[in-house]
Amino acid sequence: MSGSQPKILLDRATISKTVQNLAKRVSAEYRGRNLVLICILKGAVVFLSDLIRCLDIPVEIDFVRLASYGSGQVSSRKVRITKDIEISIEGKDVLIVEDIVDTGWTLAYLMERFSTHRPKSIKICSLLDKKARREVDIPVHFVGFEIEDRFIVGYGLDFDEKYRGLPDICYLEEKASP
Ligand code: IMP
Ligand code: MG
Repeated sequence: MSGSQPKILLDRATISKTVQNLAKRVSAEYRGRNLVLICILKGAVVFLSDLIRCLDIPVEIDFVRLASYGSGQVSSRKVRITKDIEISIEGKDVLIVEDIVDTGWTLAYLMERFSTHRPKSIKICSLLDKKARREVDIPVHFVGFEIEDRFIVGYGLDFDEKYRGLPDICYLEEKASP
């Protein structure tokens, strides 16, 4: 994969329209409530920053960072937290903002962990969903794009910490052998 060139899957205009639509749905659902958006670092940071600027309701934001015990691109079923939220979510409506749902283990872990803080509700908003890869059944309430099983980079997502700044959602393809 290290020799691959990113190819555009979803361009910036398409992403922007979808983020605006998601923001409309989120604004409608949470109007008049106490919404906290919890962004999963680092990949979802670009999505969060675009999403909050399209919302027309007040929100609080916070961040978590996770590490998996496995390595590389293989999803690990064991997740641990390396940076926790700092504001109280007790009695508030929580929306977890994620870049991509793959096996679902990361979000299953977070849903369970955050529910011990007794929020009023917890839902998930993910820009991308690789549904065919799901190993654990978690409800993803707001989904930007359902995509095939491809390795995605750009718009915050990385391969080995590279490509996060690409403005389009891209996939990595192996270079053909010479
Ligand atoms: P899950 O626990 O298997 O659902 O893993 C979700 C996490 O794996 C995401 O938050 C990403 O950090 C990472 N991930 C899964 N698929 C991709 C991908 O195609 N590109 C970049 N990161 C990915
Ligand atoms: Mg992530």
